[in-house]
Amino acid sequence: MKPLTSTRCPFHVAQDETPRLHPPGSWPPGPPSGITGWGLLRRMSGDLLGTFDEWRRQYGDLVHLRIWPEHQIVVTDPQLVRELLVNHHDALIRWERGIEVFSQLHGNSVLTAEGELWQARRHALQPSFSPKGVQPLVPVIAAAAARTFSQWRAGDEDWPIETAFTSLGMDIILRIVFSSEADADARLAERAVHDTAVAANAEMYWPASWPDWMPWKRAKREGLRVLDRLIVRHIEARLALARDGWPQDVLSRLLALHLEDPAAWPLKAVRDECMTAFLAGHETAAASLTWWAWCMAANPSAQSAAQREVDAVLQGRAPTAQDLSALTYLTQTLHETLRLYPAAPVLLTRRCVRPITLGGWQLPARTMFTVPVQLMHHDARWFPEPHAYRPERFSDGAPAIPRGAFMPLGTGPRVCLGQHLAMAEMTIVAAMFLQRFSVGVPAGMAAPKPVFNITLRPDQPLRLALARR
Ligand code: HEM
Repeated sequence: MKPLTSTRCPFHVAQDETPRLHPPGSWPPGPPSGITGWGLLRRMSGDLLGTFDEWRRQYGDLVHLRIWPEHQIVVTDPQLVRELLVNHHDALIRWERGIEVFSQLHGNSVLTAEGELWQARRHALQPSFSPKGVQPLVPVIAAAAARTFSQWRAGDEDWPIETAFTSLGMDIILRIVFSSEADADARLAERAVHDTAVAANAEMYWPASWPDWMPWKRAKREGLRVLDRLIVRHIEARLALARDGWPQDVLSRLLALHLEDPAAWPLKAVRDECMTAFLAGHETAAASLTWWAWCMAANPSAQSAAQREVDAVLQGRAPTAQDLSALTYLTQTLHETLRLYPAAPVLLTRRCVRPITLGGWQLPARTMFTVPVQLMHHDARWFPEPHAYRPERFSDGAPAIPRGAFMPLGTGPRVCLGQHLAMAEMTIVAAMFLQRFSVGVPAGMAAPKPVFNITLRPDQPLRLALARR
């Protein structure tokens, strides 16, 4: 497989290694902000990525936004993004307001924590999500996919593929975290995940939230309650079991940490990590598989090529861990989908806690940084004809992709914890899907519009024509 991050950026090699230093107190160019800059916020809340794109064209790869009381820099240069997230990692925290909103659901987990607590959590969780830790999950994922696909109605010209992949994503993460299959509570959770994501997206851009007991926040309140009950019910059921009967899953590993060191791992910490694994682990993968199905439907020749590879490698059987690396073209179709439709199109906004220098600009402590990954993925400098679906871009013989230009899973120490699980899950599900079905675009259907609601989803729930092979 083509290495995605090991090439030196060919677009920067000719540049001076140490860019000219701008005087302290000066800022990169950016749109006029008026007295408060709140007009910029209004434009951003209308169409965040479209607005960033316009500003990038006008002002370049480092755009300064003065939105009182903050200074914000939008970074779209791959090399500078890596410099920020890798080299300056120690100087960064995530934007406090974003984390405050996420914490309402995730509590204090590896996703929301900073500093030593984050490090301890990440260290403890890493083995479960390492390439080795993911291997035993391959048959678990394959079993969930086989059961789900046996219930899908082939021959439907208007099959609700997004809902169906979201249910499968939830089934898979429930098996991985709790060794449990999707039940009635999980069905309720699908609605709850949607309602809480919509509420979080809306609250994020306000400096403070109305209290949750306000009458118009009923859906959010109910959503938080349903998700909390789902997680707590699993924890209580496990604790009621004799320990030698505990299955090997994420919950058992977290509870073992709790029993070893209850001060470092109180039950609340177990709850918070389960919630994060549950939410971060199914929404993004389901959204990505939904977009992949769209790409397959809209590009029949890529679909046939992927099908031929799957048939040749698997000969009709379910994939094993050893098969995954042999499914090279299928993996390219997934990478190209993640390029066009990154489930996290904008990384969590960062703030530097001490002055840093980036691209020659000496930026003071408290500067905020936004990285719109989707804009970098759609940049014609790194991806010619950026809106065309071309899995071959990721093949071994294709021109090198500059380091940092493709980062659907983030980069640096805070790169996606579930990156290996996510790629294994998508490859297994996609392969087993192609063994059984073909997808097509229903007659008269227009391409779905991507909408950014914490994750990137189609504006209307995606429906495709599903045929049995
Ligand atoms: C296609 C699927 C996925 C995509 C596109 C994705 C994307 C991302 C991205 C971009 C980040 C970094 C965010 C930032 O830097 O601001 C992230 C972080 C994270 N992801 Fe994923 N993710 C996926 C699947 C998963 C899965 C399956 C899990 C399973 C547990 C997971 C758990 C996490 C966690 C816990 C973090 C926070 C890590 C930290 O801050 O140390 N993700 N993900």
